[in-house]
This record gives sequence, C-alpha cells and structure tokens, in this order.
Amino acid sequence: MQLSTFFDIILLNEVESMQLPNLKEARKRTNEEVPYIYLDEKYDSEVLKGKKYFVKTYGCQMNVHDGEEICARLESLGLFKTEVLEEADVVILNTCAIRENAHDKVFGYLGRCKHLKREKPELIIGLCGCMAQEESVVEEIRNKHPYVDIIFGTHNINDLQKLVLEVRNRKKLDVNVYSYEGKVFENIPYKRESNIKAWVNIMYGCDKFCTYCIVPYTRGKQRSRKSIDIIKEVEDLVKNGYQEVTLLGQNVNAYGKDLDDISFSSLLQKISDTKIPRIRFVTSHPWDFTDDMIEVIAKNDNIMPYIHLPLQSGSSDILRKMGRRYTKEEYLSLFNKIKEKIPNVAITTDIIVGFPNESDEDFKETLDVVNTCQFDSAFTFIYSPRIGTPAALIKDEVSLSVKEERLQELNKVVNEYSKQANLKYVGKVVPVLIEGVSEKDETKVFGYTDTMKLVNVVASKETIGKIINVKITEAKSFSLDGEEC
Ligand code: 5AD
Ligand code: SF4
Repeated sequence: MQLSTFFDIILLNEVESMQLPNLKEARKRTNEEVPYIYLDEKYDSEVLKGKKYFVKTYGCQMNVHDGEEICARLESLGLFKTEVLEEADVVILNTCAIRENAHDKVFGYLGRCKHLKREKPELIIGLCGCMAQEESVVEEIRNKHPYVDIIFGTHNINDLQKLVLEVRNRKKLDVNVYSYEGKVFENIPYKRESNIKAWVNIMYGCDKFCTYCIVPYTRGKQRSRKSIDIIKEVEDLVKNGYQEVTLLGQNVNAYGKDLDDISFSSLLQKISDTKIPRIRFVTSHPWDFTDDMIEVIAKNDNIMPYIHLPLQSGSSDILRKMGRRYTKEEYLSLFNKIKEKIPNVAITTDIIVGFPNESDEDFKETLDVVNTCQFDSAFTFIYSPRIGTPAALIKDEVSLSVKEERLQELNKVVNEYSKQANLKYVGKVVPVLIEGVSEKDETKVFGYTDTMKLVNVVASKETIGKIINVKITEAKSFSLDGEEC
C-alpha cells in the first residue's frame, strides 16, 4: 500500500464528513444560470456485488420517481432489490418532509433499522429525500441515531454510488446535503416500476413559497428541463411500448417560465404529438393555469381529462395568508372554465384545514367551495407547522381538537361527492388502461379510466398493458367494478 493511501484511510476514519443542510441558504433565489449537466457515468466495483438492497419511499410521486433512480444506481453496483427489510445489506429511506406525521413514520422505521444493525453490523443505512434537507432532522440523527451511515439530499442523488462505496472506509456519519438552488441532470438512470406507465420529470423545485410549505426549501429553485430532452425521453418510452406518461413537477403549469422559448401548453402539444396513448400531469397551481393549456387539453385525445387543482382553502383571507395568489372567486371561475371547456373532465384537489387562526367562518367557506365544485376526490390535511416557513411563526389560537373536527366534517362531505361522482359511471362504457392483477380479487384485473378512477375489471390477464372498453357495473366510494365489453 502506498503511504499516502494509508494516511488517506486513517484520515477518513477519523474525520466526520459534513455538508450540512441550511434552510437560510435554501430560501435564496438568484439570477444565476441553472447548470444543465449531461451525466455520462460508469461504475465498476466488486465491493457490493451480489448484495441486496431495500428502498423505502415516503411521500409524493416525485419521491416515488426518485426511488426509481435510487434503485437504478444501487443496481449499477451489482446489488439486487429485496422487498424484505431483514434481507438487506443496504437500506435507503427516501423521505418526505411535507407534514410532521411523515417525519414520525421515518423515525419509527429507523428504529427497526437500528435493531437490524445490531444483528448485522455490516448493514449500510442511508437516509435521503426532503427530510435530509432539514437542519433539525440531520441534527437529530447526528445526536440520537449514530447507526445511520449516510445522509444525502435531493440535489445529489447522483452521489449515491460513491457514498455507499465509501461507507466501509469511515466510522462516522457521512452527511452530504446541499442547500443551493439546484442543477438539472440529464441521462439519469431509472429502474422503472412499471413497463406500462412512466413518470417523467419536466421540472424541479418551486418558487411559489406558499407560506405553509417546505418544498421550495427542500427542492430548490424552479428549474425546467429542456423540451428536447423531455421529448426524447417520451419518444424512447413510446418505442418501448409504454402506454402512459405522467409529467411531474411541483407546479407544472409554470413549466418553461425559466426558459426562453416554451410554455407548458406548447410542451403538452409536443408530447401529445409523440402519440403516446395517455398523458397526465401533476401538480397544477391555479395561478399559472392559462386558457392555452385548457385548449390544448381539450383538443388532444391523448391528454387525459383529469386535473388535480389544489384549492387549499375556500377562504380568500386564508388564501392570502397562505400566499396562494388567488381568491375563492378566482378559483371558482377557473374551475368553471375548465369544466365548461374540457368535456367529461374530472377535477380533484388538496385542502388544508386549520391553517393558523382559521375561523369557523373561514372553514365554512371551504365547505362552500367543496359543495359548489363537488370534486371527484380530495386529499385533505390538517395544517402541520414546518420549521423555517413563515406560517410556522404565527401564533395559532385554534386547538387541535377543533381542527380534527373540521377535518372529519370535511371528509364526510368530500367522500359523499366522490361516491356521487363514481355513481355517475354505472352503466357507462369507458376506456380503461389495464395495469395488472387486482389486489383484492386475483380473478380480476385493475386499471384506471381516463379520468383516473380505479376500476376492478372482469377480464383476462391478456388485457394487461392494453386500453380496453369496460362496462361499469358498480360504484364504491373509492373504486368502480366493471367487465370487459
Ligand atoms: N401542512 C399540511 N398540509 C400541507 N401541504 C403542504 N404543506 C403542508 C403543511 N405544512 C399539502 C398541500 C399540498 C399537498 C401536497 O400537501 O395541500 O398541496
Ligand atoms: Fe408548496 Fe406552494 Fe410550491 Fe406547491 S406551489 S410545492 S404548495 S410552495
């Protein structure tokens, strides 16, 4: 062994590597150009070849897609995936920071990993994703969870192979979290979970800074991918037989605002021209939703008539405090326009109850909008203060029990409208993309309508991967039953 290498190793053993998150830095937005980096990587290492990895992903679709990158990167080192935690040699927790309960789940799961490490001291434990971008989380892990080996953030998943390979050379926790605005990487490897439908990132980060939301801090500045790279990815998916793409971004209709020559509506048109059978996109913000977008969705059959349009609150006063940039009336007018122009459209939403000092009157306004819009479905949440966000500094006079009552009341109304929306399908024949064998009943298959309704279908397994006509026979609160026709 060369002397310098020997000393390098000694040094590595003794020095804890630290690139810590910093929320103040993460809040900054500059005019600096976004670096576009075209990766050209090769990993050739025998160290972990044949070992098993386990990835647990929490949170949104963006995280699920990041999970696909994590899997591909570990497989590039010759590891195999296992669905059983106890079998793993490498465990990665891909985390979400949007609400406190996501934190609690991760720390609960870390407890299981700790036990496992006692039995298997060679086990490598990594934590990444949005929680890794939070100062308080990294601090807690450094102080109370010394068995964690690596922490890396949302900006450097591409460091994963290097970090995992280096674990054996270190004794201490390796923290590699960057709080800068972020880059755009191309040629990212993905181990896609499905060969029927695929996630495609069209942009990263968010500049909206809604006052309750941690995402602009954990995911960096809004950065759009170049349309040429997105189209190439979709064309490759078409060549490989994919039936559906879901375009991902925190705020997809702001796509292109940071580029010179393209808007979301023109990107949608280009993707529609690839002839992929089904196109979806999440998430839309009411602020950037243009008439051009509505027109493009309405006129192209392969853009699905399904829009997730977060309301957050029905009170204009709360919306202003949330920094949402629209009023109740503006939301309703956009909602009505979409319903009028896109035939058969399904609209779903997100609603937060209990934003600091939300009054009974404010909450009634939320119920009022729900009763007016009769959403196909809604994801409802109790407001959760996130350290570092402006809303977390507001002194809140409303008790948790009041917030819980409001959530229950809201859910009752929301579920009733979901059921009613589903009931409208009974007796109709609708196209369904069949994705696999039904979880509840192995004799059936399951898939989704163009409007994103889950259907369990009496049909042969040959239909998997195809869009078939299904007659709806029964409506439940959260799914439909049907048969091929
Ligand atoms: N508390 C509760 N819900 C939140 N969301 C975002 N931040 C918070 C928070 N601090 C919800 C919003 C968003 C969805 C993804 O999560 O409704 O649309
Ligand atoms: Fe969060 Fe608002 Fe950005 Fe959505 S638009 S990610 S709610 S800051």
